[in-house]
Amino acid sequence: MAEESITVTDNRTGKQYTIPIKDGAIHAADINKIKTGPDDFGLMPYAPAFVWTASTKSKVAFIDGDKGILEYRGYPIQDLAEKSTFLETAWLLLKGELPKKDELAKFTDEVTHHTFVHENVKKLLDGFHHDAHPMGILVSTVAALSTFYPDAKNIHDPEVRWSQSVRLLAKMPTIAAWAYRHSLGLPYVHPDNELNYVQNFLHMMYRMTEQRYKPHPAIERAFDVLFILHADHEQNCSANAMRGIGSSHADPYVTMAGAAAALYGPLHGGANEEVLKMLAEIGHVDRVPRFIEKVRNKEALLMGFGHRVYKNYDPRAKIIKRIADEVFEVTGRNPLLDIALELERIALQDEYFINKKLYPNVDFYSGLIYQAMRIPVAMFPVMFAIGRTAGWLSQWNELLTDPDQKIARPRQLYIGHRERKYVAMAQR
Ligand code: ACO
Repeated sequence: MAEESITVTDNRTGKQYTIPIKDGAIHAADINKIKTGPDDFGLMPYAPAFVWTASTKSKVAFIDGDKGILEYRGYPIQDLAEKSTFLETAWLLLKGELPKKDELAKFTDEVTHHTFVHENVKKLLDGFHHDAHPMGILVSTVAALSTFYPDAKNIHDPEVRWSQSVRLLAKMPTIAAWAYRHSLGLPYVHPDNELNYVQNFLHMMYRMTEQRYKPHPAIERAFDVLFILHADHEQNCSANAMRGIGSSHADPYVTMAGAAAALYGPLHGGANEEVLKMLAEIGHVDRVPRFIEKVRNKEALLMGFGHRVYKNYDPRAKIIKRIADEVFEVTGRNPLLDIALELERIALQDEYFINKKLYPNVDFYSGLIYQAMRIPVAMFPVMFAIGRTAGWLSQWNELLTDPDQKIARPRQLYIGHRERKYVAMAQR
């Protein structure tokens, strides 16, 4: 086998450098050894948005974008969506292995018994305006939890890290549901320890005068699967925020609030809302060919299509499409579904989309399902955040136990002015 290295010649000096290749990558520190002289800082790779650069080694999630593969800890997402539950998947992501029966029972019990939030959280929520975006409420409230758990600062203690992970997984549905109730001016519903994770979340969202809100089993399962599908996606924008903030050794609450803030952006957690708007604007199946023509002419984007990493059908989109059928059997068909199906049918045989390898991504169908399950559009990124909590915490734990990692502090290529003379106001 050929040697695992590359040899480069610096044409400025004529010097040759042999740089080892490990795990399919070269180390930026080896590039930095390429210098024109002792005063030269050394060559740097320029990687805006890290598009071509690995910032970490990881064992959490694997994606092969060309083949449309997503695995959590080596388990295909299809198997987890079919056979696992969100809490079991959360354990898998956090611990690296599927839990044994007693481990899962204990974990479920722990999460169930941490779903309550301090009464003062209600006062905090009451301070938000009635039309405050639930994602803004979620981000602020998760950050505020930091003030209730000062022990969380001890991030080098694995037991402390585990306690906060359990707390965050447990409290996210409570905060999310209460953010929703606040927007409607409805009283907050306390968690019910007799219910499982998804039932409890839906109970806190929708309970009115009944003793307990009981979801249809197909709806309950759909939520569980959606949480699994959103649980991790390796070094995406919010995971990168989690690692960036976590690298300064901030506590997990403020760190995760930062990750959730990254998710709030429309380029990350907000695309499914854009899909719904697009479908409503198209309005009828007959108008699909005209819309595709607009996309081909670059006058519009087909929202929910294309992905930075997947150049094939996003495996999560396939699963969501199947779940959609099961949900619509219970809720009735979302009238926008026919437009979505026709868009997909035409796009998948259109040269523009074939040549650019544009396929449906996770967001193409998720908004339609959430809408059918009575989740308002503003809550879509909140739903995403509940599932992604498992991934954020797994990435954070991995970061803190990785000897290669340090405080994240990229370099820059300074291209501005230097050593200018200050000009007094009167002379400007
Ligand atoms: N509709 C029409 N054309 C598209 C689309 C689309 N949805 N996506 C990409 N293209 C075209 C681009 O115009 C570009 O064409 P060009 O080569 O002629 O300039 C080419 O395909 C490559 O696209 P890029 O934007 O360079 O690809 P990138 O990897 O930067 O972007 C992104 C990926 C942002 C997801 C893009 O496909 C897009 O905007 N999709 C629509 C929004 C969306 O669905 N986002 C959700 C992503 S999933 C998630 O974040 C959870």
